[in-house]
Amino acid sequence: MLKGKHIILGITGSIAAYKAAYIIRALVKKGAEVQVVITPAGKEFITPVTLSALSSNPVISEFFSNRDGSWHSHVDLGLWADAMLIAPATAATIGKMANGIADNMLITTYLSCKAPVFVAPAMDLDMFAHPTTQENLKKLRSFGNYIIEPAEGELASHLVGKGRMEEPDKIIEVLDAFFTTEKELEKKKILITAGPTYEKIDPVRFIGNYSSGKMGFALAEACARRGAEVVLVAGPVSLNVYHPDIKRIDVESAEEMYHVAMQEFPGSDVAILSAAVADYRPESQETEKIKRETKGDMQLHLVPNKDIAASLGAIKKEDQILVGFALETNNETSHAENKLKRKNFDFIVLNSLRNQGAGFRCDTNKIAIIDKFGEMLEYPLKSKQDVAEDIVNKLVTLIK
Ligand code: CTP
Repeated sequence: MLKGKHIILGITGSIAAYKAAYIIRALVKKGAEVQVVITPAGKEFITPVTLSALSSNPVISEFFSNRDGSWHSHVDLGLWADAMLIAPATAATIGKMANGIADNMLITTYLSCKAPVFVAPAMDLDMFAHPTTQENLKKLRSFGNYIIEPAEGELASHLVGKGRMEEPDKIIEVLDAFFTTEKELEKKKILITAGPTYEKIDPVRFIGNYSSGKMGFALAEACARRGAEVVLVAGPVSLNVYHPDIKRIDVESAEEMYHVAMQEFPGSDVAILSAAVADYRPESQETEKIKRETKGDMQLHLVPNKDIAASLGAIKKEDQILVGFALETNNETSHAENKLKRKNFDFIVLNSLRNQGAGFRCDTNKIAIIDKFGEMLEYPLKSKQDVAEDIVNKLVTLIK
């Protein structure tokens, strides 16, 4: 739904600036109108001629036009825009944005812009990891800006790590999704649990599972895009959150997840429990690393963890909705129906490990939804993002 949208594309001095050409092409193809604003350093990496040819608009870089002295109004530009995208965004530009250092046309435009702002950082891994950069990004998030996290991979320095600008396709997807979605979940507070839990054995070992958290994170993004305020309680995962309306709380153990969920649920309209919570934990944790020589054969005594879903189900009010997951290997439907009742879910999302491409660690999933009225809907294999949309669609019908 980028058709007819006015997009300011801010380009800064990074080797990733060449990817801006692909971004412009994709935006124009989708029917958007693009106005490029480039920093002086940005012009060292890609020429305004390329950018203006692709965008069919003159590129703005200076406060005044060198040719006739006419003034480029950053204020008008800020009002014209439906969105501003800064891609690539260097550490310097991010720092200037966070601190209001308006010494170039891009920053003055940013400060005047009333539309949503998307920032796609690009820099070396150590620059990205530096506390200054992280503090500045935190500030931008607190201003309501959307950070499109960089990907991990080989960088211009040939080092490998996090800092490479996200691919143009993904950036366009984020923007497209922003404009596409109806805000059916506006004013709804949604609690989501995601990922595995780690149950400590000693300071270096734990009991865990293969959950990647991808399904829960996709759900958080989908709910936030539809206007919800999301609290995402995440077990140990290596995933990023993009939407500024997602508050992420990181936990490690089932016990920690239980406490956060119990605290957040009373103020929530909906809870979606996609976490793969460990059912058991070691009865006690060793404070020092267990040594092989002193132990020989070893037995771990495990005790059950609290069932977060059942605990929320027990305190659920009439106007709250509880959504659970079931990952099964056999007798899938009857196990899922049993969990739906036992945990007082409004609906349960069933995935079977017997289906290829479903369950833990995949980017795809194949689900069935069974609701409390006994209705069952089966879906084909889809990306976890699309599965998240199906689940949210079901949620929206219940809320309505
Ligand atoms: N769940 C939870 N807390 C737990 C265990 C499970 O909140 N301690 C939630 C999961 O997030 C999921 C649902 O309950 O939404 C079902 O999880 P599952 O592990 O399949 O349920 P269990 O009751 O542990 O059943 P099983 O014996 O099959 O492991």
